[in-house]
Amino acid sequence: MGSIQLFPRRGPVTIADVWRVAPLPGAGAIRVRPSRVEDFAAVRALGREALLGAPVTLRQFESRRQAFPEGQWVAECDGVIAGAGSSMIVGWEDYPCEPSWAALTGDGTFLTHDPHGRTLFAFDVVADFSRRGFGIGRALHLARRRLCRRLNLRRIAAALPLPGYRADAMPPELYAKRAIWGEIEEPVLRFHLTQGFQYCGILRDFLPCAEHPGHAALVAWLNPLYAPPGPTASVASQRARKCA
Ligand SMILES: CC(C)(COP(=O)(O)OP(=O)(O)OC[C@H]1O[C@@H](n2cnc3c(N)ncnc32)[C@H](O)[C@@H]1OP(=O)(O)O)[C@@H](O)C(=O)NCCC(=O)NCCS
Repeated sequence: MGSIQLFPRRGPVTIADVWRVAPLPGAGAIRVRPSRVEDFAAVRALGREALLGAPVTLRQFESRRQAFPEGQWVAECDGVIAGAGSSMIVGWEDYPCEPSWAALTGDGTFLTHDPHGRTLFAFDVVADFSRRGFGIGRALHLARRRLCRRLNLRRIAAALPLPGYRADAMPPELYAKRAIWGEIEEPVLRFHLTQGFQYCGILRDFLPCAEHPGHAALVAWLNPLYAPPGPTASVASQRARKCA
C-alpha cells in the first residue's frame, strides 16, 4: 500500500520546509528583549555578516544602551542571539535641513537621543543570515511599534540603504520608485513596506558609505493611537471655567 500524502506540495522544497521538519538548534520561538553588554559580540557579528557599514563598536553599543535602553533589542531563539535592532528618539522637526546619519546619531553613539522628540528612529534591523524569513525582523518591528505606542510617539522612521543603487544608472528617486513598483529587487525596502512603512522620499548622502553614494530611502510608520500632547480634557475644562 502506498503512503498517503496530505496537501502535496507543488513547488520546489524550500529551506524553510526542511527546517520545519528538522529545526536547527536556536530556531525555536523568538523572544525580543533589551540588549545587555554581554550581547555585544553577537550583535557586532550580525552587523558584520549583513555588511551594515562599519560594525558597531563597544563604545557605541554601550553609549546607545545608556542613552535609550528601551530602544536597544536583541531577538533570541532558544538562548541564541538571532537578530538585533536599535532605535532612538529624534526631534526630526528641529533639524533645519535634512540631517546626515552622523549628525542624527551623534556618530552612532545616540547621545543625540531626544526624549522630547516625536519620532522613533529605527536603525540596524538585522536577522541572522541562516534564520532569515522566520519572523525575526517582524518581531523586532513589532517591539518598535509597541514602544512607539507606549511612548505616544507620532511615528517610526527609518533611513534604508539602497545597496543595489549605482549613481551612473539613474537618480535615486527613480531607483526607489522602480523598487517599490517591483521592477528592481531591494529586499530591505520591500521588507519595510510589508511591515506597514510608507515610502517618504530619498535622503541624499545620508549614510556614511565609502563604496557607493550613501543615499537612503526614508520610510515611516504612523502611530494610529498618537494623541498630540496638550492639556487633557479635564484640565482644559477647568481652565475654561476659570476664564468664565
Ligand atoms: C531585513 C531583514 C531584517 C528581514 O528579517 P527577516 O527575519 O528575514 O524577516 P521576516 O522573516 O520577519 O519577514 C517579515 C516580512 O517581511 C517580508 N520579507 C522579508 N524579507 C523579504 C525580502 N527579501 N523581500 C520581500 N519581502 C521580505 C516577509 O515576507 C514577511 O512578510 P509577512 O510579515 O507579510 O509574512 C533581514 O533580511 C536582514 O537582516 N537583512 C540584512 C540587514 C539589513 O540590510 N537591514 C536593514 C538595514 S538597517
